[in-house]
Amino acid sequence: MLLGDLVRHAAARFESVGIDSALADAELLAGHILGLSRGGVQAQILMGASIEEKQAEQLAQLYGRRFAREPLQHITQIAYFRQLELAVGKGVFIPRPETEFVAQLAIDAIHDAFASGEERAIAVDLGTGSGAIALAMATENPSAKIFAVEKSPEAHKFTSANFETYRDQCDATLVLGDLDDAFAELDGMVDVVASNPPYIPLAAVPRDEEVRLHDPALALYGGDDGMSVMHLVSATALRLLKPGGALIVEHADSQSMQVCQLLLADGWSEVRPHQDLTGRDRAVTAIKKI
Ligand SMILES: C[S@@+](CC[C@H](N)C(=O)[O-])C[C@H]1O[C@@H](n2cnc3c(N)ncnc32)[C@H](O)[C@@H]1O
Repeated sequence: MLLGDLVRHAAARFESVGIDSALADAELLAGHILGLSRGGVQAQILMGASIEEKQAEQLAQLYGRRFAREPLQHITQIAYFRQLELAVGKGVFIPRPETEFVAQLAIDAIHDAFASGEERAIAVDLGTGSGAIALAMATENPSAKIFAVEKSPEAHKFTSANFETYRDQCDATLVLGDLDDAFAELDGMVDVVASNPPYIPLAAVPRDEEVRLHDPALALYGGDDGMSVMHLVSATALRLLKPGGALIVEHADSQSMQVCQLLLADGWSEVRPHQDLTGRDRAVTAIKKI
């Protein structure tokens, strides 16, 4: 059987059920079975390569799971985030591409802390999920000390595996618990707090089945108005940060004004909205008053 025929057929089926990244997913799953990159799969297809029967059967199974709207990353058990390869699966939130720019804001804030004379900048990630933001901050600033908290025991299994993977490349500490009372020993000592909290209002159930059925509810919903965990993040960051310390939070594209108002009401200064690469408001930064 020709690999190209199998991939094109799967892509057409994916498209028919509304999967946006149909061809990419079909190629990536083929790469997962064949041990090839997406580019490697494309090269094999161009050369008219065929696929062994056993591998074709395995691939057909994976295509069936994706057709049933299981997320690609749950099937491959890997999510790529900046330079990281993170273990993911049922029970942990899959890190999103738009969060990469939120991590960049946090990394920049850590650089600023070092530039202002800090010898060992400290940063905290509240609600770390797979560890995406925390491990990006830690591996891209190996001299910084990073702390992360995650409440879900199911997610924490993946988080701790990911922290173990990058243990030798950075200084990152993970705890299982509620962000509300996390890291009391760091009160007033932290330079940067970053968070991508759950922010979807309870009634706004996501349309995509991959999200609605496969991302954990604890990672998605932020109470009636979506802001319940955002309030906790603001209060916890005010407790942890030193005066002049920076907060970076991600939010939905419709929530910029709401988040800015929440932070201003809590007494933050320099409250600023930020746009992602597609120009949508997706993050707010603020400074703890001196
Ligand atoms: C939207 S996900 C973001 C995960 C990760 N930071 C990312 O960007 O991919 C929110 C995460 O916060 C965690 N979470 C929710 N409420 C929490 C709380 N009160 N304390 C600690 N973690 C919490 C969820 O389990 C989930 O992993």
